[in-house]
Amino acid sequence: MMLEQQFALDRAYNTPATDYRRIAVAPLSGACGAEIRGVDLAGTLDDATVAEVRRALLDHLVVFFREQALTPARLAALARRFGELHVHPFAEGMAEHPEILVVRKAKTDRFNFGGEWHADVTWSETPPLGSILYAERVPAWGGDTLFANQYMAYDALSEGMQRMLSGLRAVHSAARVYAPTGYYAADEYQRMGGTQVRPSEQARREYVHPVVRTHPETGRRCLFVNASYTERFEGMTREESRPLLEYLFEHAVRAAFTCRFRWQTGSVAFWDNRCVLHNAINDYPGEERLLYRATVIGERPA
Ligand SMILES: [Fe+2]
Repeated sequence: MMLEQQFALDRAYNTPATDYRRIAVAPLSGACGAEIRGVDLAGTLDDATVAEVRRALLDHLVVFFREQALTPARLAALARRFGELHVHPFAEGMAEHPEILVVRKAKTDRFNFGGEWHADVTWSETPPLGSILYAERVPAWGGDTLFANQYMAYDALSEGMQRMLSGLRAVHSAARVYAPTGYYAADEYQRMGGTQVRPSEQARREYVHPVVRTHPETGRRCLFVNASYTERFEGMTREESRPLLEYLFEHAVRAAFTCRFRWQTGSVAFWDNRCVLHNAINDYPGEERLLYRATVIGERPA
């Protein structure tokens, strides 16, 4: 077990701007995350409010809303204000809303969906800009979600490591998770009563992305690898890649880079999938948890 290495921050990462007019923004940790107040997401948002939410997302990487009342249709409409929606090829969407993913852990399920550090759908040409998750039913306690700031993860690396990683690209695929040999194909997962997954040979398809990407809207560099979907460095074997990737997976989620969100019914989380990792904690056996997810398509990482 590695000790948490000490480091000093050169800049503050999660301070709110003071010039919001439509919303109030309250940071959650020193690293990332902010609660937005004063918005009814079920209503039709004016362009100025959408622009401020988008700015808060860029500033805080993940934003949260409380006491919202969204239906799947309203969630989809909200997400469309931020871009085109992704339809998951290996996990079942709702019959009437294929772009809405049901993220459910039934009382009898042992495993949950998204229960390790990852970014969503990095196994595609244009990984998501972000995901919006709405909580319909949550346990009284437990089932929190962790988020980790990948600008901080990059900034905290030595100059030598930053330089070396900036020249590397990595291969991403959904194989480890969604291939017929992947972990969602294992018996325990097939018995997952909630989220319906469809393991497929198609999941083996590979996509190459830079290890350090420049965020298209903020212009800042962040680490862009994750334990679920990053297989190896381009031009290297899995064995050659593993030691450095393992280091990066561990480094990327240091406690100081994270925030932790406690869900309530009606809570919404909207994360910038280009610069945060997230992890759904599976610590509520015997309880049901039901959320709906809309995923906004992003651009090709550069
Ligand atoms: Fe996820």
